[in-house]
Order: sequence, then C-alpha cells, then structure tokens
Amino acid sequence: MNASVNPDMFYPGQDVVDQANVSEYEKMYQYSVENREEFWAEQADTLGWYKKWDSVLDESNAPFYKWFDGAEINIVHNAIDRHLENANRNKMAIIWEGENGQKRNFSYNGLNREVCQFANVLKSMGVEKGDIVTIYMPQIPELVFAMLACAKIGAVHSVVYGGFSTEALASRIDDAHSRVLITADGGWRRGKQIDLKSIANEAMQRSPSIEVCICVKNNELDVEMEPTRDFWLHDLKALPIAGSKCETEQTSSEDPLFILYTSGTTGTPKGMLHTHGGYAVYTSTTHRMAFDIKPQDRWWCAADPGWITGHSYIVYGPLINGATIMLYEGAPNYPYPNRWWQIIENYGINILYTSPTAIRGLMRFGERWPKKHDLSSLRLLGSVGEPINPEAWKWYHHVIGNDKCPIIDTWWQTETGGFMICPLPITPLKPGSATKPFFGNEMAIVDDDGNEVGTNEEGKLIVKNPWPGMARTVFKDDQRYADLYWSQDKDGKWIYLAGDSAKKDEDDYIWVIGRMDEVLKVSGYRLGTSEVESALVSHPMVTEAAAVGLPHELKGNAIHTYVILQAGIVGDKKLEQELRAHVGSEMGKIAMPECVEFVESLPKTRSGKIMRRVLKARALGQDEGDLSTLEE
Ligand code: WTA
Repeated sequence: MNASVNPDMFYPGQDVVDQANVSEYEKMYQYSVENREEFWAEQADTLGWYKKWDSVLDESNAPFYKWFDGAEINIVHNAIDRHLENANRNKMAIIWEGENGQKRNFSYNGLNREVCQFANVLKSMGVEKGDIVTIYMPQIPELVFAMLACAKIGAVHSVVYGGFSTEALASRIDDAHSRVLITADGGWRRGKQIDLKSIANEAMQRSPSIEVCICVKNNELDVEMEPTRDFWLHDLKALPIAGSKCETEQTSSEDPLFILYTSGTTGTPKGMLHTHGGYAVYTSTTHRMAFDIKPQDRWWCAADPGWITGHSYIVYGPLINGATIMLYEGAPNYPYPNRWWQIIENYGINILYTSPTAIRGLMRFGERWPKKHDLSSLRLLGSVGEPINPEAWKWYHHVIGNDKCPIIDTWWQTETGGFMICPLPITPLKPGSATKPFFGNEMAIVDDDGNEVGTNEEGKLIVKNPWPGMARTVFKDDQRYADLYWSQDKDGKWIYLAGDSAKKDEDDYIWVIGRMDEVLKVSGYRLGTSEVESALVSHPMVTEAAAVGLPHELKGNAIHTYVILQAGIVGDKKLEQELRAHVGSEMGKIAMPECVEFVESLPKTRSGKIMRRVLKARALGQDEGDLSTLEE
C-alpha cells in the first residue's frame, strides 16, 4: 500500500481518474483564487456571447457585484440555439417518464420547437422582456419548456414548487406581481391525481394580479376554467401565432433570468434573483467539472425543477453542456421500491444526483430492490440538500455504485446558484464531507468575531469572495440582501455568510453541520419555521404558534409545533389532525407538522421573540442553555 494512503478515505478508481475532465485540483485551485477573473473569463469563453464583456467582475458597488458586465448573452442561446448548429441537433435533450408509464422524448431540435412555440404563446399574451411569469407545474417537460420560453424572450420566471399549496403560491404571485401564471390541470403521485388547477384557482382569487392563466393538460381531472382568464396550452399552440420559429432575445449579462423564493430566518420567503451571464457560466462550469459530463452521458438529477437544484442542474447547467437529461414525474417507490433502479437500467443512466433523504428512503427497502437491476452504467453519484450521514453514503457507494462510483457531495444554496464545496471525480472522499471549495472560492470557518476557528472546531461557514453564480439581490429588497448575507471584515473586505455551521479537519476537508438559523431542511426541502407558524396562526382557533425541527431518521428533520389556542378552546386529537391538515393545505404536504402540541405559553425573550432553541432542547431532553434573556 502507498504510504500516503489514508485509511479514512475512499479513493476513485483509475478509470475514473484517467477520463476526468479536470485531472488536477491543487494547482488549478491555487491559480483560480489568485487569478479569479482570468479563471472565470476562461470558463466564460466556452459559452456563446453576442457581445463580450467590458469587465469580468465589477466590484464598485459591493456587495452588489456584477459579472461580465457590458456583455450580451441569452442563457437559452447557450442551452439550445448553439446545439442546433452541431451534432447535438438530433441528440436527445430530454427523456421523460411519467409515473403511470407514459414516455416522451425530445431531441435538442425538438426542444427548440417546443420552446419557440411556448415563447410565441407567451408573446401573444403580452409577455414582454422583464415581466415576471409565475410557473406552478408538476414535473413534466412543459415545466422545462415554460422556463426556457420565458428566458428566451427575456422574461423572468418565478417557479413555485408543484408540491406547495394555496398560500405559498398566492404569496409568491403577490410578491412578484405576476400577470401571467402557467400551470397544469394536475400531476400524478403514487397513482393519485393531484389537483393543481383548483389550488391555482384559489391562489388567483387571493392574489388578483393574474390576468392570464395558461394551463397544460396533463391528466384527466375535470378542472374549472375561467373563460376570460384561463386558456389551454394546446389550444393556444394550435393558433397561427404559435409558430415554431422565435428569435432569442439578446439580454445583457446582468439582466434577470429568474427569481426563486426561498425560506429565511424571518418573515416572508425571499425572492432570490439570478441573472443570465454569470449563472450560465457558473452552472455549466461546475456541472462539467464536478460531474465530469461527457457527450455520450445520460444525466439524471432526480430533483424537482421547482427547486434551485432543478433550475441549475436539471435545466440550465446540463443543457448548456449539451447533456441528455432524464426527467421522471412520480414517487421513487411507486409502484415498487425498484422504480428508480429500473429507470437507471432502462435508460442506461451514467450519473445520478439526488438527496440523502431519497437515499435513506430507498435504503430502508433493502438491497434486494437495486440488486434486481443492472446498474453498471453508473459512473458517478451525487448528493445534495443536507449533510449525508455516513451509513447512507456507504450504502449508496456500495450497493448503488458497486464500490466504483465516487460520490460527489455538493454543498450549495439557492443563493449561491451552483456548487460551492464539492469534490471532483479525482478527489479522495470522506463519507459525510463535501470535501473542498470549488475553483475560485475561498471558504473559511469563523467565530462570532470573524476570526478563523481551529482545526475541527465548529464555526460559521463563510465565502470570502464573489463568484459568478451568486444571487444578485433579494427581489425588491436590496437592503435585506446586503444585511442578511454580507458583512465587512476588519480590512473592509466583503464576506458572504452562508447561515450554516461547519468544521474543517486536519486535511482541510469541510464538514457542513447544518443551519444555524430558523431554516428547516425537511427531506432536503428548505422551509422556514416562520412560514409554518403563520400557516398555523391563519387557522381561526390558533392565537400563537412555534415550530422547531427535531432529528428524524428518514427526513433529516421533522417539524414539531407548539400551539396556543383561543381562550376557551380545548385541544384534542381531532383538532391536532385538523391543524396538521390546515398547514398541509396552506403550505403543501411537505410542511405538514409531525405533531401539534397544545400549550399554555411559549418561552420568549423579554423582547417577545419565541426561543425555539429552548423548545428544541426541552423536546430532546437537553440542557436549555443560557436562559438569561427568557421572560419570566
Ligand atoms: C443545506 C439546496 C450539507 C445547507 C442546493 C444549505 C447541505 C441549504 C448540502 C441550502 C450538502 C445543501 N451538505 N448541507 N451537500 N447541500 N445543504 O437553498 O444547510 O434549498 O444552507 O439549496 O441546504 O438549501 P437550498
């Protein structure tokens, strides 16, 4: 055995190393942080620009950075148009399978036709450059077409995850003042039809800015259509206005591409705003380097396009890289727990990228399900969304990857646009660590005073530099963006605060521990305690509520809630069920609390803030910590 071999590490096989797109990390990393602008300019040069940039990075108004300012680009020009001029034209872009076995495939040429038609439909409905279009859809190809159609004409998409419900959708429509909503009659989950249109109808009633609703027919639900507002997409596509040719709009590098709402510490979800140029460069570079994408690869990111993971690594990064994308609408274990493994075998998937919660969920059914299938096409595996526990990592590596596929554990956020910490296929791995920073990024772990903590000590994870994929602001709230994420160190240098706690070990591997704020990761989905609380308080019998996340074997975290009822009302099992269901119908099933406990009071600070930390410690039987600010 080589003397430098570390027994705690998993080393990639020689075949993986031999074909890696990036064959060396340390030197290139050093180069990328010392010559950040050159590094990113070199990556940007691999894309198609209508006009090149005046400056790579404009720091004059930090922390409102600009990347590739002065350049003209459209991300769709890179994700579709460029491929039509080469051998990718007839290559499969999207392979889609529905839960009930439906199959639809689109070549890059076919994708272009769909996106052009959709774009023409949007134009005919008066959508213009800069308008924000809300999209609320199941995981069907039309969701991807809708996003790309918006981007193509310079409109801004705001995708609301199809698992969210009425209030979540209504508040996002409202914040964006969307005039157009794109939705579907419904989706499929575990053999049942999900009635999206009636949720959309109620949301449109609550937020009346919507004048046009375009509805995709996806299942057989009999839905209510409001004749002056609602249109079937297939009817519109049949009109002469929906031709299959449409020019891609030239947008500036810094023109908005999308907003995506995500949960924060307080108040309403924040609309994180991403732009065309830097985001295109960042998503495609990270995808190409970390996942070693090859022209013949079939790539499956088993997330929902409605979350950032889907935006960056189902839609934009992979399409820019000309990959073939797998898209599946349905549950991983329907009708049997081999559904995913069957998909991998049937389509010869080479790279699977998913979440620890999905792995734990499938692991629970045992090895016999994956063992029924030939998974030998897999070359790389990926993980995202929360720290992956070593047991799940090892199962994924051994049972799914047959001990030969490196696990690319990617740490990043809605705000970062793409991977910030992740291995390359050549990186020796430690189960549970996302390893080292991606190129260009200097990360550190600091204490409350901003000083770096020692080896293996826990602290706050920060990024010490801007990067092209970063969100540019919180929609309509520059101040909130600057205050929440950025601060200046002693030398006046701007640093980005991720909101996670982490450690760095003796090999400089980073171990992300979890959120430090009131953000919950439930089954990898990001939710705010405040959103769950306001859903509870919107019930007429509730006066006050608190939500905390407690560890859960499958979900990572489960939501536990504490509720104070209106005077005179007594809480019982029935009311508990009613309140859980109420949160489900306001927010979506994923936000449904595990339990509702009725209490007389909540621990609060003297200034009236609920001390969730105390509730959590009590529930776990742990030390309640410093109670000096607790109100008597
Ligand atoms: C967590 C998801 C550990 C983290 C892309 C972060 C992770 C939050 C990892 C962002 C990982 C994501 N290891 N933790 N590999 N990936 N997280 O915005 O707490 O939905 O701050 O973006 O997920 O969640 P978001």
